[in-house]
Amino acid sequence: MRSSTNTEIVIRTEGLTKHYGKVRAVEDLNLSVGRGQIYGFLGRNGAGKTTTIRMMLALTKPSDGYVEILGNRMKPNAVRAFERIGSVLEHAGSYANLTVRENLEMQRDLLGLRRSHWVDEVIDMCDLGEYLDRAAGQLSLGNRQRLALGRALLHKPEVLILDEPTNGLDPVGIAAIRELLKSLSAERGITVFLSTHILSEVQQLADRIGIIHQGRLIEEIGYEELRQRNREYLEFAVSDTKRATWALEETCGLHDFVVREENGIRIYSDFERANEFNRVLVEAGVAITSMRMSEESLEDHFVKLTGGSNDQEAAPETQPTRKRGMQR
Ligand SMILES: Nc1ncnc2c1ncn2[C@@H]1O[C@H](COP(=O)(O)OP(=O)(O)O)[C@@H](O)[C@H]1O
Ligand SMILES: [Mg+2]
Repeated sequence: MRSSTNTEIVIRTEGLTKHYGKVRAVEDLNLSVGRGQIYGFLGRNGAGKTTTIRMMLALTKPSDGYVEILGNRMKPNAVRAFERIGSVLEHAGSYANLTVRENLEMQRDLLGLRRSHWVDEVIDMCDLGEYLDRAAGQLSLGNRQRLALGRALLHKPEVLILDEPTNGLDPVGIAAIRELLKSLSAERGITVFLSTHILSEVQQLADRIGIIHQGRLIEEIGYEELRQRNREYLEFAVSDTKRATWALEETCGLHDFVVREENGIRIYSDFERANEFNRVLVEAGVAITSMRMSEESLEDHFVKLTGGSNDQEAAPETQPTRKRGMQR
């Protein structure tokens, strides 16, 4: 679902902070997720994702700030909220020597739920049908992850919170999880918050991505940007976007472009016709203040923002604060 201004906020963190001694695992984190949205929480190893998610689920006590989910302040006894939240933490374990079916039944019992069609639906949604009698311990990583998701869905949660659900999966496994989460969001309106350290795993999935680095949310990227950012483009800054749109469409027969804020026209194809576009725009009475080709992919951007090394430990106290604009 795309974000809109009057979406109900389902997850909100306010000044959320966790310090472990001198390690600032999470620092003044403010983010919000609207109903039905898929929020990708992206950061390198050690950026603070798991700590944030554990605070969301009241498994770790914040040093400061708080988390509100579905209007409830998250505390270990926030039973009303937990009834409406499903979660899968990193290395989520099912009972290895029980079968898939037994694991699901056991979870259902634990939750005090009656046998229902819903269990079958979950089995269906998570594509577990052919593995029902297989011991969980013998499943592939992808199937194990789907079982964990299935268990998290048994009580029909409105919110799903997932820590690196695609970690270690092969491309097929990743795609399966992606399709499942998409359909949960689109067809059932479930709000999904998931963390990952790999941009491409959420780029085609999330409505919004928040980049966390050394405990801080350093940038948020919205739906349109996510879809367009990885495409090469040619951008004109023009005096009049309406007139420019008309000229490009009518005179050049060009449709693969978008109008951006602040007088930008971003063209995604036909780059070799740049001179022609230039001329047509000028002839149509449009002043051009700049023309440039895209420079970096979103992946480049992410790597640049979060540094090149593989593991990124949290910032020591002396680390300078890094603030970034959210708008581009
Ligand atoms: N229980 C803990 N005690 C001390 N430091 C911790 C603890 N948990 C996490 N950290 C530190 O907090 C930082 C963030 O860790 P984490 O939230 O696990 O990152 P991520 O999930 O993004 O990889 C890391 O520097 C990590 O070493
Ligand atoms: Mg983690």
